[in-house]
Amino acid sequence: MVTGSAGFIGSHVVEAFETAGHRVVRLDLKDGSDVRDDTVLDRALPGVDLVVHQAAKVGLGVNVADLPDYTSTNVQGTAVLLAAMARHEIGRLVLASSMVVYGEGAYDCLEHGRVRPGPRSAQDLQRGRFEPACPMCGEAVEHAATGEDTPLDPRNAYATTKLAQEHLAANWARETGGSAMALRYHNVYGPRMPRDTPYAGVAAIFRSALAAGRAPRVFEDGRQLRDFVHVRDVARANLLAAEAMPGVGSLMACNIASGAPHTIGQMAAALTAAHGGPQPVVTGEYRLGDVRHIVAAPDRARAGLGFHAAVTFEDGMKEFAAAPLGIS
Ligand code: UD1
Repeated sequence: MVTGSAGFIGSHVVEAFETAGHRVVRLDLKDGSDVRDDTVLDRALPGVDLVVHQAAKVGLGVNVADLPDYTSTNVQGTAVLLAAMARHEIGRLVLASSMVVYGEGAYDCLEHGRVRPGPRSAQDLQRGRFEPACPMCGEAVEHAATGEDTPLDPRNAYATTKLAQEHLAANWARETGGSAMALRYHNVYGPRMPRDTPYAGVAAIFRSALAAGRAPRVFEDGRQLRDFVHVRDVARANLLAAEAMPGVGSLMACNIASGAPHTIGQMAAALTAAHGGPQPVVTGEYRLGDVRHIVAAPDRARAGLGFHAAVTFEDGMKEFAAAPLGIS
């Protein structure tokens, strides 16, 4: 069963499983089936041997008025699903998690080694000081690849609910002897990515701007790093996860990333070139909740799932520049 089967990532996951010969039970709010509804689950789950849980409210959100909705959809939804899986004795779960559980990525200070900078201050951002500094000595730090054992630091409602989902899934696995794989997606992009909304990722925002004849607006100095991973690679990672579940009673978390980070400025340039303009502008604007760099260590997914991204940044962005967008 795939929850969120009509969504951006979920719809690609369904395609990947069906292409591999699996029969997929679809569950999606858009089709009137709510993952928080026991009656719906009791009807859908008999005969299911694995749940791939993609249904979630995503994005950064607008303000604290969003909190109840994030919690209800993501935390309550997962809790109801896990309880139903236990009732129906389904022991395997692949969970869509996110790199946002790390907060700011990993950094190294020449003097103090691996450090964890706190959120950047409005004052620093206003002055164009975008790079985080060492929390011990205030000197410059170098970003490092973020591994799964990096301490977790969810800094917004979405991140908090994604981490809660991981913890609930780990509780479920321990208590029922189930096994769970939490896939910490990095910046997923590709066909059917939801168009520009307050909840959209930057690739969709730029793509929507270009389609409307507007220049992409690159925040900060454009040198912030992300790992853009193509949605078909993410779908394949779900399939590989289903075939490589961890031992009973445990949850394993894996970064799902391309392993080839790019700056937001490079992403804007690639998309604009493929679209044929208008040229991006670097605005120096900032959002207080944003982290500076978040770059994945993809090694565990490679060793544990045999996953490595197949779609290159260049090919993926070229395709995305012309691909249809979805609605969230
Ligand atoms: C995004 C998602 C997050 C998801 C994560 C991993 C959103 C809002 N965030 O986090 O939910 O878990 O990927 O998939 O969906 N930027 C611009 N111009 C814009 C908008 C953003 O330059 O118009 C910059 C931001 O300042 C930031 C970077 O682009 O530096 C990435 O922004 P965004 O995609 O919104 O958030 P992520 O932190 O990468």
